[in-house]
Amino acid sequence: MYSKEEQQHLNHLTKQLVKEDSDFSDSGKAESLRKVINYHDWRYYVLSEPVITDFDYDALFKQLKELEAQHPNLVTEDSPTQRVARALTDEFESVSHLASMLSLENSYNLADIEEFHKRVTGLTNTMDIEYCVEPKFDGASIALVYENDMLVRAATRGDGTVGEDITNNAKAIPSIPLSAPFSKFGIYKVELRGEVIITKETFERKNAERIAKGEKGFQNSRNTASGSLRMKDPNEVAQRGLEAILYHISFAEDKDGNNLIANKLQTHFENIEMLYQCGFKTPLKELKVCNSAQQVDDFINTWDAKRLTFHIETDGMVVKVNSLKMQQQCGSTSHHPRWAIAYKFAAKQAQSKLLKVEFQVGRTGAVTPVAKIEPVPLAGVTIASVSLHNEDFILEKNLLLGDTVIVERAGEVIPYIVGPVPDLRTGAEHKIHFPRNCPSCHSPLVKPEEEAVWRCDNVDCPAQTEERAIHFVSKDAMDIDGCGSSTIIEFIQRGFIKNIEDLYRLPYNEILKLEGWKEKSVSNLRAGIEDSKNRPLWRLLNALGIRHVGVTTSKDLAQHIQTIFDLENRSVEDLENIEGIGPKVAQSIFDFFQNESNIHLLTELKNFGVNTENRPEDARTKNNKLEGKTFLFTGSLQQFTRDRAKQLVEENGGKLLSGVSANLNYLVVGEDAGSKLAKAKKIPSIVVLTEEEFLKMVE
Ligand code: IVH
Repeated sequence: MYSKEEQQHLNHLTKQLVKEDSDFSDSGKAESLRKVINYHDWRYYVLSEPVITDFDYDALFKQLKELEAQHPNLVTEDSPTQRVARALTDEFESVSHLASMLSLENSYNLADIEEFHKRVTGLTNTMDIEYCVEPKFDGASIALVYENDMLVRAATRGDGTVGEDITNNAKAIPSIPLSAPFSKFGIYKVELRGEVIITKETFERKNAERIAKGEKGFQNSRNTASGSLRMKDPNEVAQRGLEAILYHISFAEDKDGNNLIANKLQTHFENIEMLYQCGFKTPLKELKVCNSAQQVDDFINTWDAKRLTFHIETDGMVVKVNSLKMQQQCGSTSHHPRWAIAYKFAAKQAQSKLLKVEFQVGRTGAVTPVAKIEPVPLAGVTIASVSLHNEDFILEKNLLLGDTVIVERAGEVIPYIVGPVPDLRTGAEHKIHFPRNCPSCHSPLVKPEEEAVWRCDNVDCPAQTEERAIHFVSKDAMDIDGCGSSTIIEFIQRGFIKNIEDLYRLPYNEILKLEGWKEKSVSNLRAGIEDSKNRPLWRLLNALGIRHVGVTTSKDLAQHIQTIFDLENRSVEDLENIEGIGPKVAQSIFDFFQNESNIHLLTELKNFGVNTENRPEDARTKNNKLEGKTFLFTGSLQQFTRDRAKQLVEENGGKLLSGVSANLNYLVVGEDAGSKLAKAKKIPSIVVLTEEEFLKMVE
């Protein structure tokens, strides 16, 4: 997409623009800002390799927005500020695709692939056929039309001939370029096909957030992607974390209306390379060009194992004839092309028995039914417990206690109950009774009309306190080392913790007397608690467990306040004016800060020394390069101080450990490193880094 030189130029331009020290004309500045923002979007959303902090990116975006507000004539259709349009009040319009969106013929075993290969050899009259084999992404299909390098339309598949115009929603997906340099390749009008997906990680995170808010969980990533694409408000689409992968060119013309497919454009592989060059996310890294049916089989087999750890849900592989000429020779039926076939992986399913249903009370009081099943091995793990989401899910599936059930892991990490096998019922099954009182404190449960979840409203409910405290100390919240969920449960049982603020007045002398606690673990716990007083404000906001407020909203919110107590004075309207905060979230934040006991909690936390301020240094801690990675420094450091090392790790989202263990990812060694290095060498998973190598990682 961008040559080395272009990237260097854009990096340089970025620096100038961030410093605001150049003497551009207004239009020159707007153009430069657009260019660099588009470039950084590509690095972030397509390559996942950002070279700029979020802080600087936001500053550039703000400059462009302000400039465009002052000079509306400078706004261009493909300006990054134009991604999110207003909500639609009407239905989506129908639009005809430029080429029919056919589906793929399915196959389920390797013999089918051999059969397909035979058919293709017959249709093309040659044995010498190249195939491109790539993952079959499990999402919602989409067709994008670019004309004169601009995105002019996006549509759902619909009936294959006519789809729904979802252009404004597609624009809210940051990996879809608003303009793309097809003219460089002699293309004037082009229709692309691809899949809108949600990565496994984003799916799980968004789902957990929804369930915590009392909303219905999404069933799987495919439904989530297709549901999200058809939402009326592009603003909400932008929040869903969708991505688009483009894998087919169905129509391409030059300025004179000449068809370029199989004329100028030669192979599927080259098309994918070109799409990559034009800034799209594509299967380029995952695909393989194979020269025989055997190679195709082998490649499919490697993916059958790999797909469980692949970051995107795949339900199979697609085998495509590489040459576009040969594709034309094969032709299509009215349903599917004869030059491609989908190989579907067997869904990972197992049968088990529904033994009982437990009702768990979450930190917001939401009561979630959880199926306890006879433990069954499935795709590498033993499953004994599966969420049933809410009462409606149980009713829709018509589940009974004692039922034989089908459990599925279609690659999703979270297992799922497909349904009961009614034919295997013996008559001994029982109805599942959803409780009307809280299983923990016995208060009556309530369920607002529009919600799917029953909820316990008692703020002193012990189960909620437990969940709230577990959430408070968790990794995405206050990240308190040495204090996991079992510690919280134990402390609640012993009466050490009755509310969140008790975490900051733990009776360490008493804890030392407990079984399993030693000087060292108590001092680790104490250090973890002390450390948590110095967290950036967004962590405290997230830790409070305000309904509808997760990490993203907490970060948005923290940027707009000086201290957490500012939120006491914000109206619902004020809150709604913050980008990324909708009416429901605003109401929930407002309610939280109007509640005296919550303000009391925050005052107590502040008195204990917990940071409640938006500090300028936190704005820089935006990079997630080292997210999930653990570090330890040893020996005498020459390039930086210990404090700077700690800061660098934390600024980049990593974590420091205090000793060598299997949990350690990187040991950074200075001069004269001793026992820690010796110990680390015995653990093969630990990577030993020099100071320079570490600096390269964070540069
Ligand atoms: S090619 C004319 N490639 O699978 C052929 N499709 O069941 C165009 N899909 O409707 C499709 N990943 O939505 C192709 N790498 C991939 C795909 C893929 C997912 C979807 C697509 C299609 C469906 C067929």
